[in-house]
Amino acid sequence: MAKLSNIALISLISCLFVSTLDAYATNVKGKTFLRRIRGEKEKVVKLTFYVQDLRVGNPNPIVYEVASASVTSSSPTSFGSVHVVDDLLTEKPAYGSRAVGRVQGLTTSADLSVNAVAINLNFYFTTGRFNGSTISVLGRNPVAEAQRELPVVGGTGAFRYARGYAVTSNTYNDAETHYSVLQYTIYTTYNAKLNESDDAEVDEM
Ligand SMILES: *[C@@H]1O[C@H](CO)[C@@H](O)[C@H](O)[C@H]1NC(C)=O
Ligand SMILES: *[C@@H]1O[C@H](CO)[C@@H](O)[C@H](O)[C@H]1NC(C)=O
Repeated sequence: MAKLSNIALISLISCLFVSTLDAYATNVKGKTFLRRIRGEKEKVVKLTFYVQDLRVGNPNPIVYEVASASVTSSSPTSFGSVHVVDDLLTEKPAYGSRAVGRVQGLTTSADLSVNAVAINLNFYFTTGRFNGSTISVLGRNPVAEAQRELPVVGGTGAFRYARGYAVTSNTYNDAETHYSVLQYTIYTTYNAKLNESDDAEVDEM
């Protein structure tokens, strides 16, 4: 009896082993394919920067409402309101710190019961090793929550084939001047082959 269960155990283990090997083989094939299309240089980077958000009501706004619905003015969540944005990205929270790019796109108030916007934003970098590359972020942003996670859905330049996610939170808010600073941390894949000489750089903007 003991022998029988040993045999059963061994065959169970070898079954597991075979299926693990199968999974591995699929994985390796997938990896080879991905390596080929991405140029064998895919890496993950963590980028941290700040969005300088000068909203409607600020003397120098860079966010404008471009559309609204018949219900927008009576809706507690401004449902249907669409804003276009071209915000400055900085290395540190201070407005005057080093500029690293812009974030451009649309935010749409798209939730009838809580403050949540559907966003469609392109982060465009103008300095450092990602100069000229963009990251596209698309998703639901429940703006009242302390931390929001948003999907990275693609990009250009070093971020071709990018996938990852962004975490954003409010660093500073001045209701009177309609000015706020948002922190963004983006974890994304990128293609390091675009600039091989920069491979040893640290993961900061
Ligand atoms: C970024 O790239 C543009 C276009 O290639 C170039 O003109 C500019 O000097 C670059 N900026 C930095 C800070 O490297
Ligand atoms: C690679 O990096 C160097 C130095 O940072 C820069 O001068 C060059 O323009 C970059 N090349 C590309 C293709 O991004």
